[in-house]
Amino acid sequence: MARIFITGSTDGLGRLAAERLIQLGHRVILHARDQRRAEAVWDSARAEAIVTGDLASLDETQELAAEVNALGRCNAVIHNAGIYQDASRAILRVNTLAPYLLTALIHPPRRLIYLSSDMHWQGRPVLEAVRAGRKISYSDSKLHDLLLAKAVARRRPTVYANAVDPGWVPTKMGGPSASDDLRQGFETQAWLAVSGEAGARVSGGYFYHGRAAEYLPAADDVALQEDFLAACEEATGVRLPGSAAGGAEAGSLRN
Ligand SMILES: NC(=O)c1ccc[n+]([C@@H]2O[C@H](COP(=O)([O-])OP(=O)(O)OC[C@H]3O[C@@H](n4cnc5c(N)ncnc54)[C@H](OP(=O)(O)O)[C@@H]3O)[C@@H](O)[C@H]2O)c1
Repeated sequence: MARIFITGSTDGLGRLAAERLIQLGHRVILHARDQRRAEAVWDSARAEAIVTGDLASLDETQELAAEVNALGRCNAVIHNAGIYQDASRAILRVNTLAPYLLTALIHPPRRLIYLSSDMHWQGRPVLEAVRAGRKISYSDSKLHDLLLAKAVARRRPTVYANAVDPGWVPTKMGGPSASDDLRQGFETQAWLAVSGEAGARVSGGYFYHGRAAEYLPAADDVALQEDFLAACEEATGVRLPGSAAGGAEAGSLRN
């Protein structure tokens, strides 16, 4: 039985992945943006705990990491929370800097899953905007999630870190016209979090509906990955532990 923390698990794909994992007998820690949202979902959840924090706030995100650590080590973290449209800097904070901060601050789990999107193909690294905390596009942020997954996979050779494109699915974000399969939209991240199958025990992958999919080749550029991490460090004041060469972090063998 694994213990999994899922960000943004009050709704949409995060909520559905949580329900699936609980159904399979795993222990799940839910995350809500605030107490009101937590109370709205807690009654129907069979989760181990629910933690709160607005990911648009760097301070609240850091407090959230401490709250998760206080509950004990997780086997897997699904970095799922995301927003599509926002006039302010919230996309940068929620989609890019929150997964970076939580990755840096939560006791390293054995498996990390980052929700990206096929829209990352239109994204640009926009590292200057990341450093300066300026507004970025959704596509940019989903390229960042892929770069983060790739960087973590390289820097932490003892863990499995992967990115997932869930497809265009009918959630609050996807909207009612979304044409892809909702079930397939959450099953891949649940599978990557817990499965013992060889296909799920890989690292540095980009998945769509349970299979490796094509992604922007620039995501494999190690110098770009490192520049991205440096930009996140400058924006947050928090360093991702481990060396650029990889392998510096203590950890148990991949399971
Ligand atoms: N749906 C799609 O078609 C699609 C396609 C490609 C990629 N994705 C990716 O899949 C992931 C999940 O998307 P979804 O469709 O499930 O979206 P969703 O239905 O809008 O749910 C997003 C979740 O993130 C939470 N969240 C948003 N902003 C937050 C904040 N500032 N602090 C804390 N929590 C926050 C939401 O909380 P509330 O419930 O309080 O709002 C909700 O639980 C995202 O990373 C998205 O980019 C989705």
